Amino acid sequence: MQHINLNIVICKDGVLFFTCFLATRYIFCQHAVLFTGAISMNTLKNDRLLRTIWRQPVDMTPIWIMRQAGRYLPEYRAIRQKAGSFLTLCKTPELACEVTLQPLARFPLDAAILFSDILTIPDAMGLGLYFKEGEGPAFERPLRTARDVHALAVPKSEEHLTYVLDTIAMIRHELAGKVPLIGFCGSPWTMATYMVEGNANKAFPAIQIMMKDESTVLHHLLTKLAEAVISHLNAQIRAGAQVVMIFDTWGGMLDTQSYQAYALHYIKIIIQNLIKENAGLRVPVILFTKGGGQWLNLMRETACDVLGVDGLVHLGHARREVGEKIALQGNMDPTILYQSPDNIEAEVDRVLAEFGPGSGHIFNLGHGIAPDVLPEHVAVLVDAVHRLSQKYHKDIA
Ligand code: CP3
Repeated sequence: MQHINLNIVICKDGVLFFTCFLATRYIFCQHAVLFTGAISMNTLKNDRLLRTIWRQPVDMTPIWIMRQAGRYLPEYRAIRQKAGSFLTLCKTPELACEVTLQPLARFPLDAAILFSDILTIPDAMGLGLYFKEGEGPAFERPLRTARDVHALAVPKSEEHLTYVLDTIAMIRHELAGKVPLIGFCGSPWTMATYMVEGNANKAFPAIQIMMKDESTVLHHLLTKLAEAVISHLNAQIRAGAQVVMIFDTWGGMLDTQSYQAYALHYIKIIIQNLIKENAGLRVPVILFTKGGGQWLNLMRETACDVLGVDGLVHLGHARREVGEKIALQGNMDPTILYQSPDNIEAEVDRVLAEFGPGSGHIFNLGHGIAPDVLPEHVAVLVDAVHRLSQKYHKDIA
C-alpha cells in the first residue's frame, strides 16, 4: 500500500506550498495560512486490523500487543538510556518514533501504537509528572482541594502537547502505510486516580475520600479531563492516528453505579465528540476497561467500535453478549509469555477457539506485556496467532 499525504498550503502572501509530513508546521510559523487541505490516498499494505474492526473477512486474526514498545526489548532499553528518562523519551519525537517502530521491525505485528503515556495530559496541566524507578508514576503537585481543581487549565494539544502530534506525523511518515497507527488517551477516571493520589497507590485512598465527601469537585475534575481527552484525541486523529484507544485501567475498581457515574459517563461524552472520519477513512475507537468484563453491554452503549477485554473474560461469552455488534480485542494472560513456546502456542490456540470462526477478533494480551518477557517468546506468540487463526477464516476470507 502506498500512502501519499500531500498538503496544499496557500499562504496570505500568495505562496502555494505542496508539503508533506512535518513541513506544514514550519510553514504555519512563517506565513498566515488561508487554506490547508489534505489529499490523502490511504491504502494500507496491511489493513487486517481495520477490516477486523468492521468485521469484514480477513485471512488471519490480527495481533498487536499492549506495551509492545517497552522494556522487554533490548533496543528499547538502549534508546531509553540514551534519552536519560522515560519522559524525555516521550517528549523527543525522533526517539519516540524510533521506539514505536522497534517491535514492528522484529515481529509482523498488525498495528503500531504511538509511544507516549496516558499521563502526558496531567503533565501538561502542570502537575509535575515524574517516574520513580520501580514505583511507577507520581506527581509533585497532586490534587487535593476544590481550589486545586478549579485552578486547573484544560491543555490545548496543538499548543501544549505538540511533541505527541509531531511524533504521530513522524511515525506515519516512517510507516509509509505498512500498518495502521493507534493513538490513545487515558480515561478521565483513570487519569484522575493518579492525579488525586499523587502516585500509583492501588488502594486509591485519596480518590475514594473525594468520591464520598466531595463528589462535585471530582465531577468538575472529570469534566475538565474529558474536555482535554477530546481535544487530545481529535488532535491525534488530525495528526494521523488511524485508530484511537481509551485506556480505562482503573474503572474496574468501582462498583457498577460508580463506574457508570464516574468512568463511563465521561467516556460516552468523549466518544460522542470525536472526529468520526479522517482522510476519507472512519476512525474507530477501542475502549479498554481493565476488570470491566461484567459491563460489556454498558460499555457498548458508549458507541465505541471495539471492546478491549482483560484475561478474566471468556471471549466466547463476550462474543455472544456483544460480538454481533462490535469487535473484541484481547485477551491472553500476559504471564503465559513466561512459559515454553509449546505452552504459548497451546494458549493461543485456546484463546482463538474461544472466539471461534469469523472476523471481529483482534488478538492482544489481557494487559500490558511485562518487562522481563523474552522477545523470542513474543515472536512465537505472533507467529502462532497468524498461523493457527487461518483455519477460522478459511471459508470466509
Ligand atoms: O502500548 C504501547 O506500546 C504504547 C505505550 C504506552 C505506555 N504507557 C508506555 C509506557 C501506553 C499505551 C501506556 C498507557 C498507560 N500508562 C496506562 C494505561 C495502560 C495500562 O498499562 O493499564 C497507564 C496506567 C500508564 C501510566 C504508567 N506509565 C504506568 C503505570 C507506568 C509503569 C511504571 C513502571 O515503572 O512500570 C508507566 C511508564 C511506562 N509507560 C513505560 C512504558 C513503556 C515504562 C517506562 C520505562 O521505564 O521505560
